[in-house]
Amino acid sequence: MSLIPLILDCDPGVDDAVALALAFGARDRLYLLGITTTAGNVALAKTTRNACLIREVAGRQDVPVHAGLAKPLVRAPISADDFHGPEGLGHYPSIEPILGPASSDAINFLIQTINSAPPNTIRLAVTGPMTNIAALIQSAPETARRLQQIVLMGGARREGGNITASAEYNIYADPEAADIVFKSGCNLIIFGLDATHQVRGTRAWVDAITALGTPIAKLAAEMLAFSNALPANLMDTAEPDQLATGAPLHDPCVIAYLLAPEAFQLRPCRIDVETESQLTRGHTAVEFRETVAGAFNANWVSKADAEAVLSLLLRYLA
Ligand code: BDR
Ligand code: CA
Repeated sequence: MSLIPLILDCDPGVDDAVALALAFGARDRLYLLGITTTAGNVALAKTTRNACLIREVAGRQDVPVHAGLAKPLVRAPISADDFHGPEGLGHYPSIEPILGPASSDAINFLIQTINSAPPNTIRLAVTGPMTNIAALIQSAPETARRLQQIVLMGGARREGGNITASAEYNIYADPEAADIVFKSGCNLIIFGLDATHQVRGTRAWVDAITALGTPIAKLAAEMLAFSNALPANLMDTAEPDQLATGAPLHDPCVIAYLLAPEAFQLRPCRIDVETESQLTRGHTAVEFRETVAGAFNANWVSKADAEAVLSLLLRYLA
């Protein structure tokens, strides 16, 4: 099986950390061209440090990290440190990694890397606010359309929001960027909360990952355990009478899709982002009827096989 050339844009973040761990581990399936970081869950300096730190724990210093944009396109940054801790990685010690980022110009890295590969070969995974990707589309739209696919975590339909009643965090943090990405004409696979709430790091998962015994498995298990201890994460289910049994693993789903697309069901849809309203800022209007909404612009993940995600974690964190 040939390797999938991949760039991962992220804002680690406890669940981004698990996504990174999975991507770093899947050496037999992914050719990781680079990691780009954005401001999001915590400030850019911290997301970049965290990406470098996770890379070090995974022993993947061969993969360059490039820092991206420090704030959303037009708005002030909004962190999610309630969900990730003040340093972004829960209680994990925020040690300075030995090797830092290769550059602070992620947009240039994206443009150069995508342009130097044959069209339709590179995939882009996005697990944070879409600021870097929107900047890429704005400065080099033809380059962005050379990507084979963008798989991203963001939005919600059935599940409502997790940062406000109407919005999911990654879209809420930079709705103008998300709007640019959804209108880009790129091939988009979208993991909203409807999918990621189906994949939960239960206590049994934490124990199984801890038992692998590797430093990167230990880090991932600590991320899951930190999330599981947050009351907000346990009450995010759409069904108030069914208290969820573990925090959702939002971002690892994006990498799991690249490794095992058969574990997920997709529906073509049209997605538009609310950028005007104060009340519903960042809401994603996801419409499955082309006759109502206009041309489809994305594929919405409607079903996820949680056990398949766990077995990928067990395989690649070992
Ligand atoms: C998304 O928001 C962030 O806090 C997580 O890392 C994830 O990417 C979930 O809404
Ligand atoms: Ca994230």
